[in-house]
Amino acid sequence: MEDQAERLREIVRQRGPAGNGGDSFTSGGFGNAIPFSPSIPGTLGNSPPGSGRSAGSGTDLRFRPARDGKTRIITVTSGKGGVGKTNLSVNLALAYARLGKKVVVMDADLGLANVNVILDVIPKYNLYHVIRKQKTMREILVETDYGISIVPGASGFSQIANMNDDERQNFINELETLSVADIIIIDTSAGVSSNVMDFIAAADDAVIVTTPEPTAITDAYGIIKIIATEYESPNMGLKLVVNRVKSVAEAKKVADRMTNIAGQFLNLKVDYLGFVYDDSAVSLAVLRQRPFMVIDPKCKASLCVQHIVDRMEKSELRPVGGFGAMMKRLFRKS
Ligand SMILES: Nc1ncnc2c1ncn2[C@@H]1O[C@H](COP(=O)(O)OP(=O)(O)OP(=O)(O)O)[C@@H](O)[C@H]1O
Ligand SMILES: [Mg+2]
Repeated sequence: MEDQAERLREIVRQRGPAGNGGDSFTSGGFGNAIPFSPSIPGTLGNSPPGSGRSAGSGTDLRFRPARDGKTRIITVTSGKGGVGKTNLSVNLALAYARLGKKVVVMDADLGLANVNVILDVIPKYNLYHVIRKQKTMREILVETDYGISIVPGASGFSQIANMNDDERQNFINELETLSVADIIIIDTSAGVSSNVMDFIAAADDAVIVTTPEPTAITDAYGIIKIIATEYESPNMGLKLVVNRVKSVAEAKKVADRMTNIAGQFLNLKVDYLGFVYDDSAVSLAVLRQRPFMVIDPKCKASLCVQHIVDRMEKSELRPVGGFGAMMKRLFRKS
């Protein structure tokens, strides 16, 4: 996590501004596009911590098509680690499930997976096995007690290996299995590994999470800047969530600063999606390995997440969006 944040800062230092000159966060010159080469851990057989139920695979979600034939893909990411992506991803998923949506959370963190940890699930298999063609997506999909399904990520690997063409093609085919969901929320690791960039590129909505801390803001801006420089006209809707705020005013100040600077220096529209209060219910829920939306649906953080989903629902899915478009974008990169 720290390495990724450091790498992000390094890349942002090396790259210059997109478009018109310097900005108040970073400066430098920038380089090549990041190719589609998801970072994969080098070994098998992780066994994430967690003391609850052991996960089987399987959910009825697989066999029914998405209600309107369109799956919305939301990638949740950040520059700095530990800002609340995983908690937001899982609780957003629950809020969507309460609207009657079929939701899958994909833990795209292949180094330090923890979606399963905060849900107290011990998966037998994970994304790594799919990428290595040892399991199918259906086999690793875990149905939780909370009405959402998860695609577990992998943990405990420092080695990074890329997919070969065959594995990549297979992976894309496997991803299609998930098109039965209404919503796929992809929880990424912090920073700018190539798989994170690929998931961002493939998403309908890229939700950037920051906290009010200056380092988190700078790194969030860094990732927005990289998106701006990697993709000439980013397809996805860029959205900002400010987490762990003490007041509405604090959140707005951070959001205004980010959205203004992204517009001014990167010519990029970033929508302020909302904020989540700093709330002790969140850390308590993490300790209990249950989502805060479940433990305390009326806590401040839960109400904020509900509000974020309401706003997401109001923001239109682009006409070219959805699963088919995701596939096309992934294929186009091949
Ligand atoms: N709104 C909040 N209020 C209070 N504490 C929070 C809040 N959001 C996150 N936290 C705390 O921050 C910790 C890290 O959150 P989380 O694991 O969701 O971050 P992350 O961005 O996914 O981290 P990583 O980059 O390591 O994947 C949580 O365990 C929790 O204690
Ligand atoms: Mg996380």
